[in-house]
Amino acid sequence: MKEVSTVSESAIEGLPLIHRGKVRDVYQVGERQLLLVATDRLSAFDCILPTPIKNKGKVLTSLSNFWFNRLSHITENHLITTDFEQMPDAVRRNESLRDRSTLVKKTKVFPVECVVRGYLEGSGWKDYQATGSVCGYELPAGLVQCSKLPEPIFTPSTKASAGHDENISVREVENIVGKETADKLGSLSLKIYDEASRFALSRGIIIADTKFEFGLDEDGNILLIDEVLTPDSSRFWSAETYAPGKAQPSFDKQFVREYLETLDWNKQPPAPELPFEIAEATTERYIQAYELLTGKTF
Ligand SMILES: Nc1ncnc2c1ncn2[C@@H]1O[C@H](COP(=O)(O)OP(=O)(O)O)[C@@H](O)[C@H]1O
Ligand SMILES: [Mg+2]
Repeated sequence: MKEVSTVSESAIEGLPLIHRGKVRDVYQVGERQLLLVATDRLSAFDCILPTPIKNKGKVLTSLSNFWFNRLSHITENHLITTDFEQMPDAVRRNESLRDRSTLVKKTKVFPVECVVRGYLEGSGWKDYQATGSVCGYELPAGLVQCSKLPEPIFTPSTKASAGHDENISVREVENIVGKETADKLGSLSLKIYDEASRFALSRGIIIADTKFEFGLDEDGNILLIDEVLTPDSSRFWSAETYAPGKAQPSFDKQFVREYLETLDWNKQPPAPELPFEIAEATTERYIQAYELLTGKTF
């Protein structure tokens, strides 16, 4: 196998870095484009770990690319290319950016995280326990942690630039983006989830919930942007071992979380290094998710 190097932080001479997220570095390309670089950073318990996960950025890039293409009959998206040869020169000079870079149309991002939940976990499970409902949807009594919902629900949240995202009602989304756009974001999100979750299930993966982002292009079209249906933006569970009534092992970060729980680390930065075997096993999990979903060898 070809030697692969990991990328924890990218730097591109000649392109302005406009955002360094938990996982991705975002560069401005001309007036109308962005370059999204998926690094090998991994976050767990909301902390970025110092140990990079080999190939993770490449897996995330290919997987989003796969979904953008697969879902293009439902929604337009921001994708221009992931083909390295078609990237600007400033990018192509950095071999380490190959297969982890996505050139996209720059949009005006709607400040709403479009979350769809098909199962009850995370903040949805918390809300349900407290109120019997999630984001204003009344749910049947007697659901347990990780129960499948009667039908998927759209549970948007704010896109907080700092701190945690906060669940908001559909009414609040209407106040932020207007009724017509709010309706579109909700119905697109549910349609995408419906199609993708059926497909994933046929490949042995439950998409318990996921988060989409949308933006407006120059011509006023709503585009699906950001990353799509990756382990970083979704909860993936193994359909084979799914058992409601308790937390499900997370498909990708299971070993990392289990390992970190054995330490007496207080879950505040700085996070500890991962042992080699844990990092390797995590790479394998990302690749496995990719291969199951796409049916291709990584
Ligand atoms: N097509 C696009 N146009 C404008 N912004 C985009 C587009 N695609 C993704 N983004 C933004 O790029 C950023 C990606 O960074 P990310 O690694 O997700 O960081 P964070 O940890 O802040 O979520 C997000 O803020 C996302 O909204
Ligand atoms: Mg993000």
